[in-house]
Amino acid sequence: MQIAVKRTDKPKSRPDDSDLTFGTLFTDHMFNMDYSPDKGWHNPRIEPYAQIPMDPATMVLHYGQAVFEGLKSYRTASGDIQLFRPKDNFKRLNRSCRKLCIPELDEEFVFSSLKELLKIDESWVPSAPETSLYIRPTIIAMDPFLGVRASNTYRFFIILSPVGVYYKEGFNPVKIWVTKDHVRAVRGGLGEVKTAANYAASLFAGEQAHKNGYTQVLWLDGIEQRYIEEVGSMNIFFVIADELITPMLNGSILPGITRDSVIALAKKWNIKASERKISIDEVLKAHVSGSLQEIFGSGTAAVISPVGELKCGDSVLSIGNGKVGPLAHRFFKTLTDIQYGKAKDSMGWIEPV
Ligand code: COI
Repeated sequence: MQIAVKRTDKPKSRPDDSDLTFGTLFTDHMFNMDYSPDKGWHNPRIEPYAQIPMDPATMVLHYGQAVFEGLKSYRTASGDIQLFRPKDNFKRLNRSCRKLCIPELDEEFVFSSLKELLKIDESWVPSAPETSLYIRPTIIAMDPFLGVRASNTYRFFIILSPVGVYYKEGFNPVKIWVTKDHVRAVRGGLGEVKTAANYAASLFAGEQAHKNGYTQVLWLDGIEQRYIEEVGSMNIFFVIADELITPMLNGSILPGITRDSVIALAKKWNIKASERKISIDEVLKAHVSGSLQEIFGSGTAAVISPVGELKCGDSVLSIGNGKVGPLAHRFFKTLTDIQYGKAKDSMGWIEPV
């Protein structure tokens, strides 16, 4: 398919790279493509960033049939731009599509379309430390219809946002609140795919955590409220007695690409890395016995986010004296050095644009 290109005649003004926050500013162009049953995915185009006109009955607004991805483009010291494991994001997008009854995309085609878009908005990839261009591919259900069923028509779009750090704390440890009153997802539900509903489900508990002075929520399993699943919108890791532990993928946990990268690095470094069930009781006991060394989250937006405090009922645990642990630091530095081209990519994760 040929991609039609229409360039903006009104380029936006841009703030200084060092003033960037997360997800508030968008580049000059976007990629769009439509789906209908008779034409399949069609009309791929790069055009000026614009609103999407919608009928108030558009299905995505009512029933949340939407999937998305998040990845980043980084500027290296030599001025080139590169992506981190982008094909894994498009593979996961198609996996999410299957679960949400959305027609799948041609992964190679959308990846090459992203590269075209990045070439056009290349100057928007920031170069200040800890900045990047966040990429948000999204698919939404477009039928104007109020009956509950899968939509027949869809819009796929990619928007780009120059960003700074995700949490205001940056790489400093965050405070986490354990909830037993709310669950994010259950096995057999949507938790293992990247869809709007999971983030809607996280808001109420997230607001309660904020009101109590905590940055995010630690999610327990939806059945027994005993086993740890995720933290905020990230995967979670523990270091207990020199074992790196992350909850195994059980049907309600998102298979994070940063999660997978952390596990791959740990194996390369001969660290004992386990994907297994881990209960909140095991963590509390490890804290009491002194074997709980580190807790950190992993995700595209923040990469690695150390946890300095965990509040569970009446217990308030200080983790590593509230300081960044050595493994969290090593993963953060190794991953970001690869992403920004400061270190050789021996894992085959980098794609040049
Ligand atoms: C991540 O990249 O860690 C996330 O899932 C956050 C994103 C939804 C902003």
